[in-house]
Amino acid sequence: MRTGTDVECREVGLRDGLQSLSTFFPTAEKIRWIVAEAASGMPEIEVCSFVPPKLIPQFTDAAEVVAAALAVDGLGVAALVPNLKGAERGFAAGVHKLNYVTSVSESHNRANVRRSTDESVDDFGRIVAARAATAGARDTRLAVGLATAFGCTIEGRVEPGAVMRLAEKFVAAGADELAIADTVGFGNPNDVKRLLTQVMSQFGEDVAIAAHFHDTRGLGMANVFAALEAGVRRFDASLGGLGGCPYAPSATGNIVMDDLVFLLEGAGLRTGVDLDRLVAVREIIVRNLPGEPLYGMYAKAGAPKGFVPASRAA
Ligand code: COA
Ligand code: ZN
Repeated sequence: MRTGTDVECREVGLRDGLQSLSTFFPTAEKIRWIVAEAASGMPEIEVCSFVPPKLIPQFTDAAEVVAAALAVDGLGVAALVPNLKGAERGFAAGVHKLNYVTSVSESHNRANVRRSTDESVDDFGRIVAARAATAGARDTRLAVGLATAFGCTIEGRVEPGAVMRLAEKFVAAGADELAIADTVGFGNPNDVKRLLTQVMSQFGEDVAIAAHFHDTRGLGMANVFAALEAGVRRFDASLGGLGGCPYAPSATGNIVMDDLVFLLEGAGLRTGVDLDRLVAVREIIVRNLPGEPLYGMYAKAGAPKGFVPASRAA
C-alpha cells in the first residue's frame, strides 16, 4: 500500500470492463486512460489479460499496453492470467503483479478456464516455480482471484467452506495475495462480512487480502462496507462501472470506481485518488465507446456541499 494512504483501490476496467465488449478499444486510447487515471492518484491498474488472442481479441495488444503502463512513474501494473502460458507472457512483459484466476465453483472453473479447480492449483504451482526460474520475474507478485466466491450462475450458492479450502491450497502453493471475488453479484453484506472476517483471520497475516465485487444486484457498495468492517483494505472497481456480459443484458460490471472512492474518502479512509480528476477520466471511455452505458452516482451528482475527502483533510 502506498504511504500516506489507508486503503488501496485498483482499477480493473481495462480488463474486466473491456473483456466483454466486442468493440476494440484502440491501443493508444487504452494508454491514454491508464496515464490519466494514474495521474489522478490510482495506485494500481490491471491493464489487460494474457489469454489467447483468438479467444479475446480485445487483448491482442497486451504487451504493448503493459510496456506503456510500466513507463508511468510509480504505477503498479497488473495483468490477469488464466494459466502458465499466460504467466510466461506476463513475466516476459515485466508486469509487477499477475492476477491468476480460479473459480471456487467447479462448473464455472471448467467453463472459464477448461479445467478442474485442483488442476488450476497445480498450474499455479508451476507458475510459482516458473517465477523462481525466470530472471527478472522474481519480484513479480502472484495474486490469486477466487472467482464465484459467493455464488455462480451454474451451481448457485457457493459455501464459505469451499472458499476457505481453496484459499488454503493457494496460500500453501505460494500466493502473495488473495482476491475474493463476487463475480456475478450473489453476495450480501452479511455473507461478505462473515466470509471476509474468516479469510482475514486465517490468511490476513501471511498474504494481502482484497475484495472484488460486481454490482449485479445493487449490493456492491454495501458489500464494500461489510468488507471494510471485516478489515479488508484493498478493493477492485472499474471507472464508470464499465462492463457486463454480452450474454446477459441486465448484468452490470464491476462496482463503480468513482463511487467507491467517494465512499472511502467520506468514511475517512485516504485513497490517494483525486475524485474530480478521476471523474474527468470517464470522458476517455465515453469518447471511445459511444452508446456503452456507464454507471455512477457521484459523477452525476457531484460532491455534496462542504465535502472534504479524507485525502485532503490530512
Ligand atoms: N495466451 C496465449 N495463448 C495461449 C494461452 C495464453 N494464456 N493459453 C493457451 N494458449 C494457446 C496454446 O498455446 C494453444 O495454441 P495452439 O493451438 O497454437 O497450440 C491454444 O491456445 C490452446 O491451448 P490450451 O492449453 O489447449 O488452452 P484451452 O483452449 O484449453 O484454453 C485457457 C484454456 C485457460 C487458455 C482459456 O480457457 C482462457 O483463456 N480462459 C480465460 C477466459 C477469460 O479471460 N475469462 C474472463 C476472465 S476471468
Ligand atoms: Zn470481475
